[in-house]
Amino acid sequence: MGKITYVNGRFLPHGQAVVHIEDRGYQFADAVYEVWALFDGKLADPDGHFERLKRSLGELSIDMPMSRAALTMVLKETVRRNRIHEGLVYLQVSRGVATRDHAFPTPGTPPAVVVTVSRVDRAAAEARAAKGVGVVTTPENRWGRCDIKTVGLLPNALAKQMAREAGAVEAWFVDELGFVTEGASSNAWIIDGDGVLRTRDANANILRGVTRLSVVELARKAGLKVEERPFTPAEALAAQEAFITGAGTLVLPVVTIDGKPVGSGKPGPVAARLRRLYIERAKASAI
Ligand code: PDD
Repeated sequence: MGKITYVNGRFLPHGQAVVHIEDRGYQFADAVYEVWALFDGKLADPDGHFERLKRSLGELSIDMPMSRAALTMVLKETVRRNRIHEGLVYLQVSRGVATRDHAFPTPGTPPAVVVTVSRVDRAAAEARAAKGVGVVTTPENRWGRCDIKTVGLLPNALAKQMAREAGAVEAWFVDELGFVTEGASSNAWIIDGDGVLRTRDANANILRGVTRLSVVELARKAGLKVEERPFTPAEALAAQEAFITGAGTLVLPVVTIDGKPVGSGKPGPVAARLRRLYIERAKASAI
């Protein structure tokens, strides 16, 4: 059975799923997106992702394309039609289709909505987490509103390609003061020499990761100390552990930075525990 994609009210075979060339997402990256992890056919961390979607749209004055209940139905129906149980659900909402003009189109222009579903091999993901991954660092060069989850991801795509060419899985952006902001598609964390979990403050120019927030809560509940405080790549190299979080990676240990080992160079127990706790919570919260 081929892949099915939702585009503006219709479920279509993937190869026939197209958007107009004057979609503002295509022309101006004038669109936002969300990604949900899918466990057993259900959307993980639903509230966090719906809340952030609402916020991203609100910050850009794009109308919510439909009610949350209707959107949930569309997402779940796309999942069902694809018969995918373990994977990722991608939603994109653009400001719609209009003759090219930088300023907004006429009020009432309907937002354009696309939903795709992809499969994740959970066994392969677990094997990768058991080994840990490498990251590389790169100067922060993104705009000042990384808190909005827009499809304007060119710096992220270039950074990710650089990582891949270096044999790494993620790139960490480093700001002018020398602090890590976040990854190209994940949030960045360390467990410092005092055993304190550190990740960048949500008010910094980063995406407020839904996984990040869940992990902050889970870690505190587990009695770990969490500080939303920046760290440098040098501090990360000297840390006990490092890891990244995101809907795609969940909690994934980082064992090298720019080719140098973090701590022992092996995944540590805290990241492994947080990964287990996060997956349990994601499954319990899924709808
Ligand atoms: N990326 N930071 C950036 C820049 C991201 O793109 C993402 C998610 C995150 C983690 O956010 P969350 O925990 O809500 O997934 C942080 C998604 C998965 C993507 O672009 O595919």
